[in-house]
Amino acid sequence: MADAPHVPLASLTGSAHPAVGRALSSPAPASSPGVKDLLLPGRVSKSFHIETFGCQMNVHDSEKVAGVLLERGYSPVDDPLAADVIFYNTCSIREKAAQKVFSRLGQHRGPAGRGKIIGVLGCVAQQEGEEIFERAPWVSLVCGSASYRRLPDLLAQLESGNRRVMGLDTDTEETFETEITRRDNPFRAYLTIIEGCDKACSYCVVPYTRGPERSRSSDSILREVRELAALGYSEIQLLGQTVNSYRDPAPRALSFADLLLAVAETPGIRRVRFTTSHPRDFGPDIVAAIDAHPSICDHVHLPVQSGSTSVLRRMLRTYTRDEYLEKIAMIRSARRSIALSTDIIVGFPGEDANEFSETLSLLDLVQYDQIFSFKFSPRPHTPAEHMDDALSEEEKGSRLTTLQERQREIQLRRNQSFAGQSFELLVDNRGHKPGQWAGRTSSNRVVNFASPRPDLLGQYVQVRVTQAGPNSLLGDLV
Ligand code: 5AD
Ligand code: SF4
Repeated sequence: MADAPHVPLASLTGSAHPAVGRALSSPAPASSPGVKDLLLPGRVSKSFHIETFGCQMNVHDSEKVAGVLLERGYSPVDDPLAADVIFYNTCSIREKAAQKVFSRLGQHRGPAGRGKIIGVLGCVAQQEGEEIFERAPWVSLVCGSASYRRLPDLLAQLESGNRRVMGLDTDTEETFETEITRRDNPFRAYLTIIEGCDKACSYCVVPYTRGPERSRSSDSILREVRELAALGYSEIQLLGQTVNSYRDPAPRALSFADLLLAVAETPGIRRVRFTTSHPRDFGPDIVAAIDAHPSICDHVHLPVQSGSTSVLRRMLRTYTRDEYLEKIAMIRSARRSIALSTDIIVGFPGEDANEFSETLSLLDLVQYDQIFSFKFSPRPHTPAEHMDDALSEEEKGSRLTTLQERQREIQLRRNQSFAGQSFELLVDNRGHKPGQWAGRTSSNRVVNFASPRPDLLGQYVQVRVTQAGPNSLLGDLV
């Protein structure tokens, strides 16, 4: 299953992680091949490669980090082994994701990594800190997302001969804004409006790895939206671990719903998406904004995590099953039909068969258009790490399969109900064969269609649905 559109975490922020708030840099030994030589001004081939794991926030952070590197004269290359600077932007939301980076780092052991800058960014960097240097001594930079504003300085330290640098503060008020952002997609732009997370879900490492909530000012967001529109971007995706907890620090103090409307009003912007929303902060003004402006997409991603009030209490999610269902009823009462997706964790410590069946019955009640589901994975620094995790991996796996099968049937039925209807798509992908294309509806459904036109990427087209599968639709150009 695809990874969830976001990643979120808890009150541990700014706490006593041994590495928090320290920067380490040591001069290169005289015999070191020297990153410095590699970066002498006359040298032409300063190249970089970034590999990104995890959520959209990480994807967008990498776009900004690429901007920082471009500003310093590096150019991007596809092959990590050919690059002078290799950054891994990592995810630690579940253990499997966190392990991946160490296998990647293994590629650069010995001669392969000599003279290169190898950096670990993101959540694993924040979580493991200095220990990364011990496990992989050829790494020269470790930097968590709350310290990215220090990246130019850290790179300058490496360029001037320091062998190891580290940025792991989380107690910052600042957000990461860059002069250049190298966006990967020419028509859909990610834009982070709030960083970090102040919620304290008991399973989640994000408050620890990404620090406390910091909102960017509406003036600066809207300025960037206007610039993006002028560059030809027509879809803006506002990002945050809890995007709807946005609190504008500017004097005019726009609410999140007002911000959505202001972005949607920007000339040239045809679609506005936002992810991820926290149920507690999801109010009727957001639904009213979606109703009021057709450019605000009719899709809400509202992670529930569990359908059982007792599990939700142990997860510290701050709402009950019934309170969540009231939010769903509010969204369903909109004039527009709003698509819904969610995140679910199965096998949370102590989840009994009854509690799990409440999650299944919630799927039946809500009729989501899509779910992202995960087996509980104990994470360091989280309260749930030490809860009695009695369920076997096998039992968690079997619950996950049951849940996904139930949802598959729901999605198939829902998708079949769209046969014969027409939708506007933003074309965002080519199919495997020439003449095949894929796009997304405002409600975030994927529709495949055929057209002999040579380049439809980034265009808006009208398509009538002819067939439906559980995960996508098939249609004809109208
Ligand atoms: N184990 C499993 N899934 C998790 N998520 C967050 N933390 C964990 C964990 N420890 C899931 C949640 C969240 C999504 C991005 O990842 O469902 O919404
Ligand atoms: Fe994690 Fe909860 Fe914050 Fe989401 S809201 S990032 S799940 S702590």
